[in-house]
Amino acid sequence: MGLLEGTTALVTGGSRGIGRAICRKLAEQGAAIVLHYNSNRAAAEETAASIGGEMRLAQADMSSISEIERMFGELAGLRLDFLINNAGVWKNTPMGASPASVVNELIDTNLRGPFWVTQCALPLLKDGGRIVNVSSVAGRIGVAGGRSLYGATKAAIDSLTRNWALELAPRRILVNAVAPGYIATDMTDAFFSDPDMLDRTLKRQPLGALGTPEEVADVVAFLCSDGAKFITGQSINISGGLVI
Ligand SMILES: NC(=O)c1ccc[n+]([C@@H]2O[C@H](COP(=O)([O-])OP(=O)(O)OC[C@H]3O[C@@H](n4cnc5c(N)ncnc54)[C@H](OP(=O)(O)O)[C@@H]3O)[C@@H](O)[C@H]2O)c1
Repeated sequence: MGLLEGTTALVTGGSRGIGRAICRKLAEQGAAIVLHYNSNRAAAEETAASIGGEMRLAQADMSSISEIERMFGELAGLRLDFLINNAGVWKNTPMGASPASVVNELIDTNLRGPFWVTQCALPLLKDGGRIVNVSSVAGRIGVAGGRSLYGATKAAIDSLTRNWALELAPRRILVNAVAPGYIATDMTDAFFSDPDMLDRTLKRQPLGALGTPEEVADVVAFLCSDGAKFITGQSINISGGLVI
């Protein structure tokens, strides 16, 4: 019998990358999964089929409040133990050359999206449930070259995490975040398929390797486990020592 048998988790951005690994890990431990995706239905179906178990798909563009509300309308009646706010986008926003459409997309998807999802999910989330937000080490360091707004959305996720932990403590809902470093997914593929970029990145990595989605999923599963029942308001770096 899995540790999470009888529980239900909503994982946003569960179709690919880190979200897919989180769906797989929680499902292996016995959780029923609501796998959210945006535009890539084929990837969502493939992920669901490869994991098996109790699985339901849910679609919404996180940059749209009305789409999020429509999705939660479709999920009415669901009872959740875990909400994993993972969906996110990466966009380069150099100062002086960033169109409003890109700026809005980043803020709407990475910041307003998880805020609205959580607001809609709270009536479904059981007292004593868990929220795990996927932040990034990009929110904790300065990097030259167009990373500021992505980093700011992720720093904001850490701030939401601390504040929600206090706001939801009366319901014993624990709120934590994971802050991945460089993880090999579709999001980072464009950088790391360039051998020079990969080489330069690995030279700056104390542990000398990119992280895997599974390494992030393991920590998310821990934060959903009984072993983490006195941890709230924390954001855990999973960066191989890149950010200490
Ligand atoms: N990879 C890294 O190195 C890294 C490091 C730190 C933090 N992170 C964070 O980890 C999370 C997952 O990243 P990843 O690397 O796994 O990315 P990924 O492979 O690009 O997957 C992104 C996921 O988010 C969903 N998504 C994207 N835009 C969306 C939107 N507008 N509305 C709803 N869902 C949307 C995608 O759905 P579709 O499949 O339908 O497109 C997909 O499931 C993100 O929040 C990212 O910022 C990643």
